[in-house]
Amino acid sequence: MLKVGLVGWRGMVGSVLMQRMTEESDFDRITPSFFTTSQVGITGPHGDPLKDAYDLDALAEQEVILTCQGGDYTKAVYGPLRQRGWQGYWIDAASSLRMDDDAVIVLDPVNRTVIDDALAAGQRTFVGGNCTVSLLLMALGGLLEEDLIEWVSPMTYQAASGAGARNMKELVSQMGALHHSVEEALADPASAILDIDRTITETLASDAFPTAQFGAPLAGSLIPWIDTALPSGQSREEWKAQVEANKILGHPEGHVPIDGICVRIGAMRCHSQALTIKLRQDLSIEEIEQKLAAHNPWVKVVPNEREASIAELSPARVTGTLSVPIGRLRKLNMGPQYLAAFTLGDQLLWGAAEPLRRMLRILVA
Ligand code: HSE
Repeated sequence: MLKVGLVGWRGMVGSVLMQRMTEESDFDRITPSFFTTSQVGITGPHGDPLKDAYDLDALAEQEVILTCQGGDYTKAVYGPLRQRGWQGYWIDAASSLRMDDDAVIVLDPVNRTVIDDALAAGQRTFVGGNCTVSLLLMALGGLLEEDLIEWVSPMTYQAASGAGARNMKELVSQMGALHHSVEEALADPASAILDIDRTITETLASDAFPTAQFGAPLAGSLIPWIDTALPSGQSREEWKAQVEANKILGHPEGHVPIDGICVRIGAMRCHSQALTIKLRQDLSIEEIEQKLAAHNPWVKVVPNEREASIAELSPARVTGTLSVPIGRLRKLNMGPQYLAAFTLGDQLLWGAAEPLRRMLRILVA
């Protein structure tokens, strides 16, 4: 059985990965070793002492290293490990290696042939994509695989989880602080909504409002910038969409232009995206729905009806599942090649852990 070293398995993405690996009996097919950056020697989840995640000798004994430890760890360890001649497979959740020429971005329901070609060519570095990119491609795979999309403009509604575990907690704290500030007024049927609103506005602006992680209110508000600024005027999150998506699809950079505005909203762990799509040809909505639905077992076409849209295109419904619904499919007034759509998915599953888990299974098979 393949010797697999797991690093960063206790963090948020790592914990979701461990849960999925357990559900899918992946541990029955590998010999796992659990590594740690901080607690060397304590007993790990399978009873063995944890190994030092910075011990290159211990890492080099592994045939596969699967890390959710983050970009700083990757930057510290990956180069030295390769330089000493380690030939194993490196599977990584962090973004640091994604755009390297010798790294493949993995999303096998969309790019299994790219992955298989890379394996046949001896490539050994496989990286999970950005969460919004992976979720977008899972939803649009049926149109993209036939190269039917000329360009896409995704306007995102990204959950707190994409910013990290502490940010998720801060979102809930913000919700609690808002509720607490008006609790008495809410209990009084005669209270005036404009008084409640004034108190909420004061609470949002107060120094005591918890914003240490986000740097701004998210509950009762939104944040229209994710990640660092680039000279193009894009946020880094916005820049990733086109470069990563085309790389995943095996296209030359820019083959399908993808660009929009990325916005953080007060959902917990589901990223949503409203899409404006220009098709290369005028397809009927029925053809579009059929192609989308047939692409993979997780995408789900939701009819463009009010009740179905409200019930199913909802972070509250989709959270914790592998489902990637897409709906609101209709032609826009701009013309028959312009398509609207709305899609969402769990940022920690298809957006992070699942493509890595499945890459490991491809190696094990
Ligand atoms: N960068 C994403 C976000 C998550 O902030 O939502 C990681 O892909």
